[in-house]
Amino acid sequence: MGEIDPAFIQPIEHRPKPIITEAEGIPIIDLSSITSNDHFCNKTDHGNINDTANLVAQIGNACEKWGFFQVINHGVPLEKLEKIELTARKFFALPQEEKRKVGRDEANPMGYNDSEHTRNVKDWKQVFDFTAKDPSFIPVDPDDLQPKELINCWPQSLPEFREEGQEYAREVEKLAFKLLKLIALSLGLTADRLNCYFKEHASFVRLNYYPSCPSPQLVLGVTRHKDAGALTILAQDDVGGLQVRRKSDGEWVSVTPNPGAFTVNVGDIIQVWSNEKYESVEHRVMVNSDKERLSIPFFFYPAHYVMVKPLEEMIDDQNPPKYTEYNWGLYFATKRKSNFKKLHVENLQI
Ligand code: SIN
Ligand code: FE2
Repeated sequence: MGEIDPAFIQPIEHRPKPIITEAEGIPIIDLSSITSNDHFCNKTDHGNINDTANLVAQIGNACEKWGFFQVINHGVPLEKLEKIELTARKFFALPQEEKRKVGRDEANPMGYNDSEHTRNVKDWKQVFDFTAKDPSFIPVDPDDLQPKELINCWPQSLPEFREEGQEYAREVEKLAFKLLKLIALSLGLTADRLNCYFKEHASFVRLNYYPSCPSPQLVLGVTRHKDAGALTILAQDDVGGLQVRRKSDGEWVSVTPNPGAFTVNVGDIIQVWSNEKYESVEHRVMVNSDKERLSIPFFFYPAHYVMVKPLEEMIDDQNPPKYTEYNWGLYFATKRKSNFKKLHVENLQI
């Protein structure tokens, strides 16, 4: 095992295979027909109804078949993405003790961390998390869910970081609300049906830095997992490494990186709201021996006080509710406290 800390070593059955299947099938969806129109499915919108219906069908098919899709012409200005990418690279190149000065702790879940674990195994990565606004509220302590003001911490040596990061977060947030409408329509709901859960939302941006690794066949950048929130909107550089568990045969397939596109996936909350019409699909990240990788997910989370359960519109005699109701903030804080080891939405299945 050479110099690899045993905490990173994956059990044999979960190690990445050297032969990679490319996920050619993950749909690439062009959002250009709606990007210039923030009100694209309002009654007052006389834009091209056929375009919207076509998009809704593509998104619905992708969610059912893969739980994943990529979007292009999404309206997020690429120069904002490039700026935050550049600053993120500068940040991760800082000495470890500098990064740890903005390290997250019990009281503040935002900031730097280099010891994330998923399913008890250490992930080969470093992260920096921040919210779009200061202050904001992210549930932290499962024993005390009273809203507390949370202030992001930023490294002093990178004065541009905060503005660039938060501007980027606000742009992706706009895309998240558009996707939420399209997903609602694809479930046969009204376009704004899901917006009420996001009036004050607890979303955040994560910068993931995956250093190169001398033994990439033994470790993972992120161990297999499903995303707990509603939607994840991920930007990635051209290195690649994200793999998705294909629903049709359980095979791990790689998502071809398409810098400038976003990879979107449905999280556990949409699985529950849709009463499993859409599933939150398992994914993981491989690392490689010669290249470092950067990815930037935006985790679109409802407000902490939202109670999550299958939507009434998704239930009938043939489809009884498959989950008991849960409080999102409590669920997330409990999951975080256990370092994402134990709590899974499947525990709430009826
Ligand atoms: C994640 O799923 O947490 C990260 C995905 C990626 O880096 O591609
Ligand atoms: Fe994920």
